[in-house]
Amino acid sequence: MPVPKPNLYPPFNIVRLSHVEYRVTDLAASRAFYVDTLGLQVTHEDDDRICLRAMEERGHHCIVLQRADAADVGVLGFKLYDEPDLDRAAEFFAGRGLPVDWIERPHMGRTLRTRDPWGIPLEFYVKMDRLPPIHQKYALYKGVKPLRIDHFNMFASDVDASVAFYNDLGFRVTEYTEDDESGRLWAAWMHRKGGVHDVAFTNGLGPRLHHTAFWVPNPLNIIDLLDLMSTTGYVANIERGPGRHGISNAFFLYIRDPDGHRIEIYCSDYQTVDPDLEPIKWSLTDPQRQTLWGAPAPRSWFEEGSVFAGVEPVPSALKAQPIVAP
Ligand SMILES: [Fe+2]
Repeated sequence: MPVPKPNLYPPFNIVRLSHVEYRVTDLAASRAFYVDTLGLQVTHEDDDRICLRAMEERGHHCIVLQRADAADVGVLGFKLYDEPDLDRAAEFFAGRGLPVDWIERPHMGRTLRTRDPWGIPLEFYVKMDRLPPIHQKYALYKGVKPLRIDHFNMFASDVDASVAFYNDLGFRVTEYTEDDESGRLWAAWMHRKGGVHDVAFTNGLGPRLHHTAFWVPNPLNIIDLLDLMSTTGYVANIERGPGRHGISNAFFLYIRDPDGHRIEIYCSDYQTVDPDLEPIKWSLTDPQRQTLWGAPAPRSWFEEGSVFAGVEPVPSALKAQPIVAP
């Protein structure tokens, strides 16, 4: 299927991705990983929940770590432009026969909870508690010096259908991978905020969350994190990289948290605000799309992901597979 034309006048206005709730089995172990190792800042902490923000963020949280019996993903959060957008969003999801619930969320104003057609739990809001800026409090910079949340990447059992739905929400395709044989989408990157993506979809058992990415100041921060992780008991948590992506041109590293949730450290993609930006097409058989320097990704990278709470993933009908490291 061809990539859909950009939807420049969506039914409601999503500003950007905002936050993820990871359900974790050992809150202390997660704290050691996200706070002491990555350097995210604690904005709330109690016996069951830790909220974190990155250094440039004014909103209260970009990650909520929620104590749970099983590790999975509670919700993906998105910020909308203004209050009427929330009502328009409710109308849109109700019109598609999808659930619409108004829920109470700590540190957030009116919050709409829904699901996409595959069951991915989504929440939309306009107002979140605003905190004083800390981006010039350099004494607080630790770990990989995370600046902001950048994107979610999800496994999808039908990437063409996911792209069509998220295109309806106003996400615009910047790059995509096509299976040459079937002409179907194997993966796609879609944005609202003017970078390469807020959300991406990869063919596979889905829906599952493949990773959440954080933007860092420069590639040397990634090297520093590797030195830190490899000498503080986290060497087995380093999964792939460092490297340069073909798609997005970003410098990257993939690591796994204590529950296996995958985090990408990401730096330096490019601006995509032009409404007539032409998407870049890649072939599934081109190994440089994953890593510009040619090294293929490990098998775990294509197979493992975090399930969404209460959602049973289903296999993809598209069996095409990329080149995988032995
Ligand atoms: Fe990514």
